[in-house]
Amino acid sequence: MTLYEAVAEGEDRLAAAGVASPRVDAELLAQKALGLSRTELYLDPERRLSDGESAELERLLARRARREPLAYVLGEWGFRRLTLKVDRRVLVPRPETEIVVQRCLDLLAALPEPAVLDVGTGSGAIALAIADEHAGARVTAIDVSVEALELASENARVTGIDVAFELRDVRGGLDGEWDLVVSNPPYVTAGEIEQLEPEVRDWEPRIATVGEEHTAVIAEEAGRVLVPGGHLVLEVADGRSAEVSQLLREQGYEEVRAGQDLAGRDRVVEGRWSSAQ
Ligand SMILES: C[S@@+](CC[C@H](N)C(=O)[O-])C[C@H]1O[C@@H](n2cnc3c(N)ncnc32)[C@H](O)[C@@H]1O
Repeated sequence: MTLYEAVAEGEDRLAAAGVASPRVDAELLAQKALGLSRTELYLDPERRLSDGESAELERLLARRARREPLAYVLGEWGFRRLTLKVDRRVLVPRPETEIVVQRCLDLLAALPEPAVLDVGTGSGAIALAIADEHAGARVTAIDVSVEALELASENARVTGIDVAFELRDVRGGLDGEWDLVVSNPPYVTAGEIEQLEPEVRDWEPRIATVGEEHTAVIAEEAGRVLVPGGHLVLEVADGRSAEVSQLLREQGYEEVRAGQDLAGRDRVVEGRWSSAQ
């Protein structure tokens, strides 16, 4: 079979399985199976696959056809300037979370050595990206999942970025003193999860997705540990920014505002911890 035929067949198979972007996925899986760059994939469409390459591509396509997230099948995923390892232990980092990081970097720009706490770090995406892009930032990241922290630590080692990781449940309280607390908490409700795509519903860790109560807990806990004038930055579910903004105001945050993702939806809510508290 030629490369052209293998990708076309893969696309048909993934489309039949209901994958949203079957062509792109089939191409990326072919790249991985054959160890090709994007350019190499297009250069020689008539190249014949060896038996070993065909078997490897088959294995990857079968995983994706079961609706396993593309990022898990590839084993890595791009986030800001980093390529992070991802697997079933963690949520796949999303594009909207890159906007959360940008907002944090904007708020931290004037501080030479800010202390930053990432609550629910998962793959380590937010913590590692902030430490990567703010040379002076001292970043600590917590998670309640031992498995997630293992992978986050591996990502720190692979990228050579210094972040302190701690196993901690935010519901047991936070401590320390922070210039900025950031979180992309679990915010899907138990009812909503069943309506989501199989990639999220059946593969991503429930502990990373379900738990809408976390937003209020994190906002309250952050108020105990933020320095006066420090900031809380939260990723929120689509359609919940007004509710979370109101919550932050009630808890004593000032300058509360919402920011948009690339599709123009309000997905980031921030507040400044009042110096009068
Ligand atoms: C939506 S994921 C975010 C992962 C990563 N920060 C990102 O943006 O890609 C939420 C994370 O919070 C963690 N988590 C869930 N409940 C927690 C709790 N009570 N305390 C601390 N972390 C928690 C989960 O294990 C998961 O890694």
